[in-house]
Amino acid sequence: MDRSEAVLRELNLYPRWVRRNQPAPVMAGQHAPVAAEVEAVAPDAAVAPAPQAGKPGWPELKQQVRDCTACRLRAGCTQTVFGVGDERADWLFVGEGPGADEDARGEPFVGQAGKLLDNMLLAIKLKRGNNVYIANIVKCRPPDNRTPTADEIAQCLPYLQRQIELIKPKLVIALGKTAAVALLGKDATIGSLRGTLHDYRGIPLIVTYHPAYLLRSPMEKAKAWQDLCLAAKTMAGG
Ligand code: URA
Repeated sequence: MDRSEAVLRELNLYPRWVRRNQPAPVMAGQHAPVAAEVEAVAPDAAVAPAPQAGKPGWPELKQQVRDCTACRLRAGCTQTVFGVGDERADWLFVGEGPGADEDARGEPFVGQAGKLLDNMLLAIKLKRGNNVYIANIVKCRPPDNRTPTADEIAQCLPYLQRQIELIKPKLVIALGKTAAVALLGKDATIGSLRGTLHDYRGIPLIVTYHPAYLLRSPMEKAKAWQDLCLAAKTMAGG
């Protein structure tokens, strides 16, 4: 089994069934413009963007997050989880908040849901850290992995907003309802939000299921695959 088959198997999309007399679906590896885009060399990291007056650059922002005690979450977590990846990435994936594994390691999506996220990335020829940045809506682990409250999100969101200003991604993927609702500023179901292009401050935003939800509901992986295809197509300019 080659790597792409392994990824599709992980996404519950293997073997591929094709209706008779229909062209085979375009798979990530066969989608030339996407592959070209995804494999593009990351911009020269040595050319750091000039800090904007009055706004924190990366070092100050990281320090602010480390020092933050604005809400009750900090008292209950081991460490803040800032985000990880290419700070000038075209692709930004946003989850909800750290879980136990992320709290212990200080990195987003390193547990079971993270393994699935890595495979979702691989399915569209992406790799953590390579033109990809991964962050969460809240930087501290909510107790018992509960959903962060509206006031916790309100306290933490400016950090992510500043991360997005600094990264300047070409596309944002909101993983799950909490990320989607926080970034879009409107309450709606995942079902109603996915499948279309949204706008986050001038940046296209796509909503898909949270990998932890997909682990519990593997039948929904086919829809997540559709969302990833929309994302790849959007990134390729079509
Ligand atoms: N779930 C999230 O939303 N974020 C993580 O970092 C891990 C699990």
